[in-house]
Amino acid sequence: MAAAHGDTRHRRRVGNAPVSAPFGILRLPSDVRFGAGTRADVPALVASLGERVFVVTDAFLATTPQFGELLTTITSGCRDIQVYSDIPAELPIDAVHRAADAAANFDPTVVVGYGGGSALDAAKLVALLCARGGVLPDYYGENAVAGPVLPLIAIPTTAGTGSEVTPVAVVSDPDRELKVGISSPYLVPRIAVVDPELTIAAPRGVTTYAGIDALVHAIESLTARPLERTAGVLPVFVGRNVLTDPLALEAVTLIHRALPRVVDDPNDIDGRIDMSRGSLLAGMAFGAAGTHLSHAIQYPIGAITHTPHGMGTGTLLPYVMQACVHAVPDRLASIADAMGIPPSVDIASHAQAAVDEIAALCARVGLPVSLRELGVVEADIGRIVDLTLRVTRLIAIAPIPADRSAIEQIVRAAILGDRGMLRHPRSDKQTVDEATVAL
Ligand SMILES: NC(=O)c1ccc[n+]([C@@H]2O[C@H](COP(=O)([O-])OP(=O)(O)OC[C@H]3O[C@@H](n4cnc5c(N)ncnc54)[C@H](O)[C@@H]3O)[C@@H](O)[C@H]2O)c1
Ligand SMILES: [Fe+2]
Repeated sequence: MAAAHGDTRHRRRVGNAPVSAPFGILRLPSDVRFGAGTRADVPALVASLGERVFVVTDAFLATTPQFGELLTTITSGCRDIQVYSDIPAELPIDAVHRAADAAANFDPTVVVGYGGGSALDAAKLVALLCARGGVLPDYYGENAVAGPVLPLIAIPTTAGTGSEVTPVAVVSDPDRELKVGISSPYLVPRIAVVDPELTIAAPRGVTTYAGIDALVHAIESLTARPLERTAGVLPVFVGRNVLTDPLALEAVTLIHRALPRVVDDPNDIDGRIDMSRGSLLAGMAFGAAGTHLSHAIQYPIGAITHTPHGMGTGTLLPYVMQACVHAVPDRLASIADAMGIPPSVDIASHAQAAVDEIAALCARVGLPVSLRELGVVEADIGRIVDLTLRVTRLIAIAPIPADRSAIEQIVRAAILGDRGMLRHPRSDKQTVDEATVAL
């Protein structure tokens, strides 16, 4: 595993600890199984949690032979099982409420989520509504879930959102312009079973966009600003820390080497194994550290263009890294190390090499090189900036001061496909990365 340049330390006193005491948080499932063939463990794991099993997947995956085989093995070991597969893309809240109503009628003791991020997020929310009642808007934002939800086993078929290990689910609400997140440590699935063989049939677009999103999760976890710990309830996302850093760096190494392979050859099993491990580790990291500007800006881009989440975050990533390179050169240099880039003459050059390598990787796997290719035009900039500024939780942990002007510069450069516009940091603003933000 590559060593990090610099370290992740809190710069102010925490209790009686030294001023620079390392600080870390991970919130994970109690059992994580990874490896080709691990889906064979699912029946025993389900049986260990309950006898009435509600399975959430999407309409396509429900028809696949892998799902059929898994269902047969689960059914042989449990008393009662119901499959719910009416889970549309983008996860409109009405669809989740219908799934939760069906689950409530069945009265499950355990929920199984099988699929990409959409099905896994739906399963998390079914487990939430079944256990705690109410409607999804009751839980919008952070830490609005007051206690445990039904036990959930998450089985991803993409690599990936990392949703199988994260404390968040994202939905569409027709009353809101942007997709909205529900984040709580109680949403972390009880068990994750990550079998890379289940990802082999994923179409090229899903492989590319989900795969690059996993890389964005890792890189934004490594660069998210660390927050100061104070008394009281911690936020769900606390910025980069000493426990998430090693996971995120390993994720960068794995995804950087494997993503082009699986995009070129979907049957490359070694590449699929690396991708599933990388997205799992990235999910573990961002589930505590959080993500920042690529995600915050993708929310309005997704609303305006109706393009996949990973297409937006992946297209934005080189621009966001370019805007942050002067603020966190040590972090980007460690990302360069993790990608195997030979040492540069100085840390600034090494950090820039990381940005250039990520831009080359994005182009290599066929991502758009500008937001214009997603249908965004300069006339959209004002609206995109307004909406991005509303995603306060994510911009709060950006490594640069993410004010109107900074976001506008990133969006403009990304529309024009010109990273050079971001090479010179603004002189009117002080870099805030050296400060911490009270939680
Ligand atoms: N909760 C989190 O931590 C988190 C993180 C990032 C993204 N997300 C959310 O995840 C969603 C995107 O998830 P996704 O990219 O995994 O895709 P997805 O779940 O939306 O699935 C996309 C399509 O791929 C198909 N598919 C999935 N796996 C397949 C396989 N193995 N073979 C063939 N087809 C397959 C699905 O049937 C679907 O048609 C978005 O809604 C996003 O907001 C959640
Ligand atoms: Fe993402």
